[in-house]
Amino acid sequence: MLNFILLGLLVVSLLAISGCVDKTAEQAVEPAENVQTYVIGTEPYFPPFEYADENSSSTIIGFDVDLINAIAEDQGFKVQWKDLEFDALIPALQSGQVDIIASGMTITAEREEAVDFSEPYINAGLALAVAAGNEEIKSVDDLKGKVAAVQMGSTGSQEADKLKAEGKIGEIIYLAHVNDIILNIQNGRADFTINDLPVTQAFMSQNPGVIKIVDDEITSDSYGFAVKSGNTELLTMLNQGLANVKEDGTYDQIMAKYF
Ligand code: ARG
Repeated sequence: MLNFILLGLLVVSLLAISGCVDKTAEQAVEPAENVQTYVIGTEPYFPPFEYADENSSSTIIGFDVDLINAIAEDQGFKVQWKDLEFDALIPALQSGQVDIIASGMTITAEREEAVDFSEPYINAGLALAVAAGNEEIKSVDDLKGKVAAVQMGSTGSQEADKLKAEGKIGEIIYLAHVNDIILNIQNGRADFTINDLPVTQAFMSQNPGVIKIVDDEITSDSYGFAVKSGNTELLTMLNQGLANVKEDGTYDQIMAKYF
């Protein structure tokens, strides 16, 4: 009987010890293994928000990149960037190919139906730009019969669609990247573009004398990071991280770096 009790005690204490050992082992590896990596979708030809580093074309830099990296550091997750066309970003988010969109994406009511947006992280409305030598187009009222070049799936293209439906412009050329838009204006195939003001301004300061802005306030909008509808856990992390990096001055540093 005594032997039996002793054996029982031995088994119980061995179990307890092995339990402890397991737990310690688990805790030791936990921090490294539990760091989540989120895939960030972006169309990286959109300076100053996301673009290739001229010293290493496979590295994406920009305002969005620095801001997401700062938020990731604050919230303790890792990121991996995925390069997609702009109009492929929302489908990629919906199908789970990417976890977050960080691509200078404007918060719109229509997109809100397909994705969930973070708090706005910067203001960026649409501007009307023409070739630097164009003396004909001075405002939206001078666009009748004129050809637009816009980025596929962008709010600039939606604005052009709207103007076209109202009969206020001629044709629309939809292009994948902003540099294609500029080329089309340079070679005279398009007369104007409607694109995000800070992006047009950044292009102008890098390449003076190519295009000029004739209306810098077609709309006033804000950018947000997007997550899959209902992913409140990730959305909360993005919003909390954004609030923290604003609070601790990191946001202002990134702003000063790019603007
Ligand atoms: N802000 C505009 C939009 O949301 C254009 C964004 C384009 N972004 C990019 N990375 N190409 O439609």
